[in-house]
Amino acid sequence: MQTTLWLLLLVGAVLSAGCGGPQPAPKPTPPHGPELWGDLKPVVSVKELMRDMLDPASDYVFDSVGTVITKGRRVEKEPKTDEDWERVRIGAVTLAEGVYLLKIPRPFAPPGDENNSTGPEPEELSPAQIKAKLEADPVLWNAKIEALRNVGLEVLEIVKRKDVKELWDAGENLDQACENCHIEYWYPGDKALLKKLDRRLEELYGLRPDRTRKPGMDPK
Ligand code: HEC
Repeated sequence: MQTTLWLLLLVGAVLSAGCGGPQPAPKPTPPHGPELWGDLKPVVSVKELMRDMLDPASDYVFDSVGTVITKGRRVEKEPKTDEDWERVRIGAVTLAEGVYLLKIPRPFAPPGDENNSTGPEPEELSPAQIKAKLEADPVLWNAKIEALRNVGLEVLEIVKRKDVKELWDAGENLDQACENCHIEYWYPGDKALLKKLDRRLEELYGLRPDRTRKPGMDPK
C-alpha cells in the first residue's frame, strides 16, 4: 500500500513536470521595499503648513546668522555652541523632509479663506487659481519643492562642517527657494508688475530689458 502511494505520487510529479511547460519565474522581490509604507493624508492646508511648519523651521536657519545692533554696537551673530548648531540642524531637517508634504494634494487655504484675491488689483491668487496653476503643470510645482529640499540638504552639510561663512550664503539660497515658489503660485502680481514696467520702459525709451536671458546666453 505504502509503495503504491509513493509510486503514484512519483508518477504524478513526473507527469506534471513534463506537461506543465516552463515553470514561471519566481516573482522578483522589489530591491528597495515598497515606495511608501502606507497612505499619506494631509492634516492642514498649504497656507497653514507654511505658517506652522516651514516658516518657523526656516527661522532656525535665517536667524542663526546676522548682524545685531545692541546699544549702538554691531554684533555679528553666528552659531557658536553645539546647541546653536543643533537648532540649525533642526531647521534643515524640518525643511528638507517637511517640504515633501507639499507633494500630498491638500487644500491651499482653510475653507472660506480666499486670500487677498479680491478687488481691482488683487495681490494674491485665490486658492482655486493656485490649484489650477498647479494642475496645469505639476512638474513645475515639484521642481520648486526639490529646490527647497536641496537648500535643506545644503544646510545639513554645512552643519556637519560647522561652516559659518557658507551658512550666510545658504540663508540667501533659502530665501530664494521660498520666493521662487511664492512669485509663481502665491503673488505672481509682482511678475506682472515687472512686465508692465518693461513695456512702459520700451514705450518711453525704446528699451527692452530682457529678464529671461540666462547667464552665458549670447546677447542678440
Ligand atoms: C513649492 C512652493 C512653495 C515653497 C517652496 C514655499 N512656499 Fe510658502 N507658500 C506657498 C503657497 C502656494 C502659499 C499660499 C497659500 C495660500 O495662501 O493659498 C504660501 C504661503 C506662505 C506663507 C503665508 C502663510 C499665511 O499664514 O498667510 C508663508 C509665511 C510662507 N509661505 C513661508 C514660506 C517660507 C519661509 C518658505 C521657504 C522656507 C516657503 N514658504 C516655501 C508655496 C510655497
